[in-house]
Amino acid sequence: MKDTFEKFSGMTVALHWLVGLSIIGLIAVGIYMEENEVYALYDIHKAFGVSIFAFILYRVFWRIKNGWPTPVGDYSKIEHLSAKVIHYVLIIGTLLFPISGMIYSGFGGYGIDVFGLQLVAENLDPNNAEEFIAHNETIASLGKEIHGILGDVMIIAILLHIAGALKHHVMDKDGTLKRMLGKSI
Ligand code: HEM
Ligand code: HEM
Repeated sequence: MKDTFEKFSGMTVALHWLVGLSIIGLIAVGIYMEENEVYALYDIHKAFGVSIFAFILYRVFWRIKNGWPTPVGDYSKIEHLSAKVIHYVLIIGTLLFPISGMIYSGFGGYGIDVFGLQLVAENLDPNNAEEFIAHNETIASLGKEIHGILGDVMIIAILLHIAGALKHHVMDKDGTLKRMLGKSI
């Protein structure tokens, strides 16, 4: 079923919450594990990040096929525009997060293991089993840099997005949030 003005399809609602909540969780775990050097969490973060990538790709395809949601109310141009810009930042950011993470881990020689399925092998230094050798240092650093910048950009975009959703729900009392919860408006 496609999205309509009155009701979003189950697929839109399921993908929004599955991907959205996973991204929030992965950002929190990513920052926590990096700041506190909790290396035990790295493999879990990477495995969940790669797994959710499949849903992220399907969501982008679904959004292109379905078009963007029609706004519930008749708001000012600037409000429509800012909502649209943030939706684009969010959807492009969700794509770039796993891509940059995989580039960093893959090219950095750290390997990518998804719950026991080895996608990219580790490249250990034969002379020191605790060191990894990068396949390409420049590309790996670029991936790391993008992954880190995305953390900051996406936290701001998500906070603005949630503030917008709450504004519609509490102040405007329109059906914007209800529709994303799968209800008819
Ligand atoms: C899919 C969504 C993902 C999100 C939202 C996400 C988010 C984050 C965030 C916010 C950080 C902390 C960055 C910083 O503070 O500089 C981080 C770190 C990291 N992420 Fe991800 N990540 C995702 C997927 C992945 C994937 C798929 C991989 C690799 C296969 C990956 C590998 C890493 C690594 C290795 C670090 C630690 C970086 C370091 O120690 O310098 N991430 N992630
Ligand atoms: C708990 C937090 C969240 C709430 C309350 C929320 C709420 C909403 C609502 C009400 C809409 C519908 C907007 C409309 O009809 O114009 C929406 C759409 C959207 N949200 Fe969220 N959202 C949350 C988290 C996220 C996160 C974390 C992301 C991405 C990382 C995200 C990405 C999007 C995108 C791309 C859309 C456009 C429609 C779509 O592609 O599904 N949201 N959100």
